[in-house]
Amino acid sequence: MDIEKVLKELTLEEKSGLCSGEDFWHTKNIDRLEIPEVMMCDGPHGLRKQEGESDHLGINGSIRTNCYPSASALAASFDRTVLQKLGEVLGEECQAENVGMLLGPGLNMKRSPLCGRNFEYFSEDPYLAGELGVSYIKGLQGSGIAACAKHFAANNQETRRMSGSSQIDERTLHEIYLPAFEKAVKEGKVRSIMCAYNAINGVFAAENKELLTDILRDDWKFDGIVVTDWGAVKDRVKGIEAGLDLEMPGGPGAQDKKIAEAVEKGELSEEKLDQTIRKLLKFISDTKEQKKVGCKINRKVHSDISLEIAENCAVLLKNESEILPLTSTNVVFVGEMAEFPRYQGSGSSHINTGPVIGAKDVQKHGVISYARGYNSNSESYDFELAQEAVEKAEKSDVVVVFAGLPEKFETEGCDRVDLELPLNQNQLIEELAKVNENIVVVLHGGAPVVLPWIDRVKAVLCMYLGGERVGEAAVDLLFGDAVPSGKLAETWPMCLEDNPSYLNFPGEDGKVKYAEDIFIGYRYYDRKKMNVLFPFGHGLSYSKFEYKNLSLSCIEMTDQDILTIEVDVINTGNYRAKEAVQIYVADKNSSVRRPIRELKAFDKVELSPGESRTLRFTLDKRAFAYYEESIHDWFVESGEFDIEAGASSRDIRLVKTVTVNGTKHIPITFSKETAFGQVLKTESGGQIFSRFLTGSEEFNDDSMGQGNTEMMKAMMLEMPLGALVSYGMMSDQQLREIIEILNRDQQI
Ligand code: BGC
Repeated sequence: MDIEKVLKELTLEEKSGLCSGEDFWHTKNIDRLEIPEVMMCDGPHGLRKQEGESDHLGINGSIRTNCYPSASALAASFDRTVLQKLGEVLGEECQAENVGMLLGPGLNMKRSPLCGRNFEYFSEDPYLAGELGVSYIKGLQGSGIAACAKHFAANNQETRRMSGSSQIDERTLHEIYLPAFEKAVKEGKVRSIMCAYNAINGVFAAENKELLTDILRDDWKFDGIVVTDWGAVKDRVKGIEAGLDLEMPGGPGAQDKKIAEAVEKGELSEEKLDQTIRKLLKFISDTKEQKKVGCKINRKVHSDISLEIAENCAVLLKNESEILPLTSTNVVFVGEMAEFPRYQGSGSSHINTGPVIGAKDVQKHGVISYARGYNSNSESYDFELAQEAVEKAEKSDVVVVFAGLPEKFETEGCDRVDLELPLNQNQLIEELAKVNENIVVVLHGGAPVVLPWIDRVKAVLCMYLGGERVGEAAVDLLFGDAVPSGKLAETWPMCLEDNPSYLNFPGEDGKVKYAEDIFIGYRYYDRKKMNVLFPFGHGLSYSKFEYKNLSLSCIEMTDQDILTIEVDVINTGNYRAKEAVQIYVADKNSSVRRPIRELKAFDKVELSPGESRTLRFTLDKRAFAYYEESIHDWFVESGEFDIEAGASSRDIRLVKTVTVNGTKHIPITFSKETAFGQVLKTESGGQIFSRFLTGSEEFNDDSMGQGNTEMMKAMMLEMPLGALVSYGMMSDQQLREIIEILNRDQQI
């Protein structure tokens, strides 16, 4: 398409019309200029393509298609290849269904485990979420389908999701809530971003110029389109000014007319509107060019991929006495979720996949005895159902309880109120544990729960929301036909009250203070040295892995250099299995508050028993930097950093240290209020003022004792420069001149 030519031929009405959709799922077509429509549909873990009645909450029907594990499960794979594969497969499905853009991945951070939509998000860690998001995007876009990273930004709860304001400081926004999107743009080259419903510090995302233009386009060089979340537009003209391109859904509610009126009245420049139209035309034209005709899908093949992915995502949380994999077939499956597993979440991502087979009906290992045990749609303990389960448990070698969060507990549109499983399920597990000491629990659900019976069961296998083949995946993992290799992409706290956002979730009066700032997830629990139920990165295997020979390419570097890390991983167990190795960076002597450690690299490797592999990772400046508000940029403070290779954030196996010298300088403006200690750190400050510490009589008076001298020095370092005048050590004029010199030296 010759974009400039088309632009010239478009009328003002047509231009403003292109700024919203034709209906719920299509952009507008303009036949006379051969501008085709583009269809989009929800993802992210399958296609919710609606052909009849449309909605954005998963209420009406959609085409029958494959359902894959949802994001919280996918993240636990810690495996980029899994995400890339899923992206490719979804891309093929979109091509076959004539869909040009899939609305995903969801890149929001898991600030609180209560967020009703956590099942659609990857992690509490921005690096992990970003890396996995990039792989998904590359897979999808490699198949010619636009991805749409959502919901930009700071959309971390469902309470007041359409009107609330997330109150976040600059450092936290940049360090925690933006990096996954930044990676999606810079490394994933994502073609579309969906702006969130909520406001950030009082400005709605759909009208937020700082986010949509200054950060997204100017800093990150995003050249795709920004589409609204469905119905997120408040003031359409402000949206255009801020950098919002496409309003969705279109139709009668859309506000195109206001755009044309604003141009006619001179309130909006036509050039500004043209910038939006150029982006939209490019998007439409690229989508058309990448359309593949005649694509056909083999649903069975895709279903097998869903199974393979689910097996890669499951997390073995506990496995006492190596009760898993099961060796006996005198096993009873208990719990309605063995019959009707929960395999996906509710809301706009809901996939119509047809009947799903539960573990009880898989029968790969013969017919397994079964007792329903509880009703999923009720919380009250059913004595009859429980009694049947207890009787069967008494006669079995092992009891496998399928438990989890029922659908109504976690959904788009509302948050959970606690971390509890339904009471009847907890009570049933306690009763079963009284009659059989070999209890295994298989968990379904999109987010952490608390497990009051954890000490009375031998194993817990978390399937998360594992997609349409979750039942079979669970059976394969239980019996050792597949080996668990998932690792938690989020901390499971001991109790809700331990979570750092607890006192500020979900906020008041439509405002939520992100008061825990950068300390979300393990960044908080580690800093506070708190016990957790299961740490970030945790996940067991049926095999065992040893880490050896951690080596760094250098012991000293500048922040412009690349550090190469190598570590050997050896499978010392008896199963061919996969291990996700995690590399954390710990700033040993930071002058600002920083987490104890942060994930900065990871890789997953599959090894046969006895096999070893050397894994190689690279770290650049960003792995050592924090976001420094005074320069509005990333900054590496010179010092020592530990490079840790771990099997989880609380299972660090090897450590080496590197010294990194920062090359950027933070300019300080000196004043009478500047602390003496801060001034002494600068070269000229040191020269001018060190005599006050070394030369003054008090500090050299032996009779004061060493302790007191040190105390005096410490007090001095905290004193403002102005105190030198107050205590008569120099005149006001002298201090002013010195401050002038100090500030001048800073400029050089
Ligand atoms: C959700 C989006 C979704 C859109 C379209 C909204 O309610 O927040 O994630 O893509 O609906 O269904």
